[in-house]
Amino acid sequence: MNLQGEQTSHWFQRAAQVLPYGVNSNFRYWGDQDTLVVQRARGAYLWDMDGKRYIDYRLGFGPVILGHAEERVNRAVAEAIKDGILFAWTTPGEVELAERIVRLTGVEMVRLANSGTEATMQALRIARAYTGREKYVKFEGHYHGSADYFMYSTASASLNMLGSPHSPIPAPMSSGMPARIAETVIVLPFNELDGLERTIKARWGEIAAVFVEPVMGNVGGILPQEEFLPTLRCLCDEYGIILVFDEVKTGFRIAKGGAQEYFNVRADLVTYAKALGNGFPIAAIGGKREVMMTIVPGQVSQSGTYNGNTVAVAAALATLELFEKEPIHETIWQRGQALMKGIDEILSDHGIEHALTGLPPMFGIHLGSSRRPQNFRDFLKGNAALYSQLVRGLARRGVLPDIDGREPWFLCAALSEEDIQETLNVLNDTVRELKREGKIQ
Ligand SMILES: Cc1ncc(COP(=O)(O)O)c(C=O)c1O
Repeated sequence: MNLQGEQTSHWFQRAAQVLPYGVNSNFRYWGDQDTLVVQRARGAYLWDMDGKRYIDYRLGFGPVILGHAEERVNRAVAEAIKDGILFAWTTPGEVELAERIVRLTGVEMVRLANSGTEATMQALRIARAYTGREKYVKFEGHYHGSADYFMYSTASASLNMLGSPHSPIPAPMSSGMPARIAETVIVLPFNELDGLERTIKARWGEIAAVFVEPVMGNVGGILPQEEFLPTLRCLCDEYGIILVFDEVKTGFRIAKGGAQEYFNVRADLVTYAKALGNGFPIAAIGGKREVMMTIVPGQVSQSGTYNGNTVAVAAALATLELFEKEPIHETIWQRGQALMKGIDEILSDHGIEHALTGLPPMFGIHLGSSRRPQNFRDFLKGNAALYSQLVRGLARRGVLPDIDGREPWFLCAALSEEDIQETLNVLNDTVRELKREGKIQ
C-alpha cells in the first residue's frame, strides 16, 4: 500500500531524518510508506498533510472519547491557562477534579500523574510499600505501560516466546531491560482460574499485587469470563494482595465509572489516563483510602513536576463535566452496537469466519475463527495478516482503525450515524475487493 500522498510523504521523510522511524512512539510506525503525518483533526475525523480525510477509530489509541478538538474542553483550557499553568502548590481545580473522580468511580482518594505509565509505576510502588512484598502478577497480552517492570509478555509477544500455558515464561519485550527484574514478575494466562489459584496459594507471601486490564484493551478488547474478576477479588482479599485494575483504556470509556462499575467489582488501586482528559495528557491513581495513604512524604514516593498542571486539570474537569451532563456514554454505546452489528452482518454475508470481541466503546474484529478468543494465546491463532490487509483497504478509502488487530476500534461521541454507514459501505467495498483479488476465499 502507499497511504502517503505527496505532502504526507514529504513530511514523513523529513520526520525520519530527526525522529527515529519518523515517530515519537513506536506503535505509530506503519512502515515508511504508510505512516501518516497529520495536519489536523476535528470531531470523528482527521486529515493528513494532503488533506485526505479519515474517520478516526484510533483516536490517539483511545483517549479522544468526546471527539477531536472538542470546543468546550478547549475553551476551558484556554480560560484556565490565563492564570498560569504550574505552581507546585495545590489548586482548587485539582481538588474539584479529585472530588469528581471519586464521585464517578467510587475510589476514595486520588493522586494525579501525566501518563498511564506513570500511574501504573506508582501503583506498583504503593502496592509493594503497602504489603512489604516485591513480586506482582500480570496476565499475558496485558499492557501496563512502557516501564521496564511491566514490559513482559505484553501484546507484542509472539506465541513461541510465551512458554507453556501451565508455566508461562515472562518474555521481555525490549532489549535494554535489566534481566534481573524478570524475577519480580509472575506471568499467567488471562481467564484461567486454575493456574491463578494454584499460583496465589503457593506464592502469596511474595506477591504484592495482581495487575489486570479488566477488559484486554491491548488485545482486541477480550472480556473477562463471568467469574474471573470476582474470583480475583476474593483471592486478593484472602491473601492480602493488592488488586490493581489498570483502567487506562477502560476508565471513563466503557462506563462513567469504568470497569469497576461495569463489572461491579472493586479494586484496591485503579489507574486512569486516556479518556480522563479527552486527549490532554493526564493520569490518575485512585484507590481505597487505607492503601492510598501508604503514600507518605519522605517514606513512600509519588511525585512529578507536572502533576496537576492547569492545562491537564482544566481539560479533565471539562471532560468529566460533559460525562455528567450529557449522554456521552449512551451515545457511544448505541453507535458502537450499530457498528458491531453492521460489521458482523457484512463479514457473515461474505462468508468470512470471524468473531467480534470487546464492548461497543472499544471492540475488536477477530478473523480466522468464529470462536471468541478468551486470552492472548487464543487471539494469536487468528488471521492477523488478513486483518491488516483489510485495514489497508479501509485506510485507502478513508476509514482508519489501527493496522494491528490487537488495538481495538475506539469510538467517540462525535461519530455520527452517517459515519457508521460510511464505514460499513467502505468495509463492504473492501471485502469485495479482497475477494476479487483472491485474498479471501
Ligand atoms: C492498559 C494500559 N495501561 C497503561 C498504558 C500506558 O499508558 P501511556 O501510554 O499513557 O503511558 C496503556 C497504553 O496504551 C494501556 O493501554
